[in-house]
Amino acid sequence: MLSHSPFILSFLLLLSLPLLFVLVPRILPPKTLPSIPDPDEIDDLALFRRATLASAGGGASSAAGLRRRPASPPKIAFLFLTNSDLSFAPLWEKFFAGHGRLMNVYVHADPAAHLHLPLTPSFRERFIPAKATQRASPTLISAARRLLAAALLDDPANAFFALISQHCIPLHSFRFVYHALLADPGTSSLSSAGRLRRRHRSFIEILANTSLLWDRYNARGEDVMLPEVPFDRFRVGSQFFILARRHAVLVVRDRRLWKKFRMPCLQSMKDSCYPEEHYFPTLLDMQDPDGCTRYTLTRVNWTDSVGGHPHTYHPPEVSGDLIRELRKSNSTYSYLFARKFSPDCLDPLLDIADAVIFRD
Ligand SMILES: *[C@@H]1O[C@H](CO)[C@@H](O)[C@H](O)[C@H]1NC(C)=O
Ligand SMILES: *[C@@H]1O[C@H](CO)[C@@H](O)[C@H](O)[C@H]1NC(C)=O
Ligand SMILES: *[C@@H]1O[C@H](CO)[C@@H](O)[C@H](O)[C@H]1NC(C)=O
Repeated sequence: MLSHSPFILSFLLLLSLPLLFVLVPRILPPKTLPSIPDPDEIDDLALFRRATLASAGGGASSAAGLRRRPASPPKIAFLFLTNSDLSFAPLWEKFFAGHGRLMNVYVHADPAAHLHLPLTPSFRERFIPAKATQRASPTLISAARRLLAAALLDDPANAFFALISQHCIPLHSFRFVYHALLADPGTSSLSSAGRLRRRHRSFIEILANTSLLWDRYNARGEDVMLPEVPFDRFRVGSQFFILARRHAVLVVRDRRLWKKFRMPCLQSMKDSCYPEEHYFPTLLDMQDPDGCTRYTLTRVNWTDSVGGHPHTYHPPEVSGDLIRELRKSNSTYSYLFARKFSPDCLDPLLDIADAVIFRD
């Protein structure tokens, strides 16, 4: 009789296996994609707090506001985000040449990329403390916020903050870009003293009602975005934007929406996980819809896109005609930057830089 019991035991175990399949998913939480490591989040909070405090009172008529008034002309902060290389540094160097007074460069390079040094003069020494970034995770948002915070702290003259990837190239000269941004009439409002105050706009794409939005909204689970982000306030837009200074402060100061957007996506929603395309447009549309153009000035070609990657241009495609074509837009302004270009486009781009790209 005893000899039977192992058999019965195995039999029972076998019977219970299907039960496990039913029960386990209910007991264990669903699998999620990578999230933000706590130490990174703690470092960021300290940095963002410093940037927020340093920027507080900017624009106010207080003595502090006056003291902070920058002595130099407004500058553009170029925020380079890379997880591989900065192959186009020589092209950007040509773009910046002679305009050092009107710009600053900041680089967030994923430490895992082991970027080759030294880089050209504008980029050397311009690295900010960086952390690892990954697709389909909120780490790309954190990297952009880190760049904004570093640039806010570094120079009160930074008036615009342009986020640029390692695959981006300029489509115009620096003078053209600077003039387009600084001469934009912006929005105006009446100050408390009854004076008309002009404020710069941010150039950020903000779209609603696109077909992919519902899955993107639920990528972290159903209803988890509530109550901070109801579905009808959820927006999408290109990851690459140019923010006015007050919006850079707003982004770095935000805790409320970040609490939601920092949550990792569910493994099962991997194909709908692009938090960096939602956080910025959603936040700005909630806080200052009239202060944003709702379009981006960075051209991207989504024809025949594969796996969330846009068309990548290769050397045989690079030509003066391509540059002129990429500049064309349906907005008030011509496109200023374009992506994505493969690293080996550098030489053909340098060849047409003076004759085409920097000739406006
Ligand atoms: C989205 O679509 C709804 C109904 O079609 C419309 O009422 C709403 O204004 C749209 N929202 C935006 C921001 O375009
Ligand atoms: C966009 O990419 C497609 C191929 O994916 C190409 O045929 C087309 O010429 C590109 N458009 C522009 C404006 O470069
Ligand atoms: C401009 O709008 C037209 C019509 O909607 C569209 O076909 C074209 O692709 C747009 N061009 C650009 C550069 O976005």
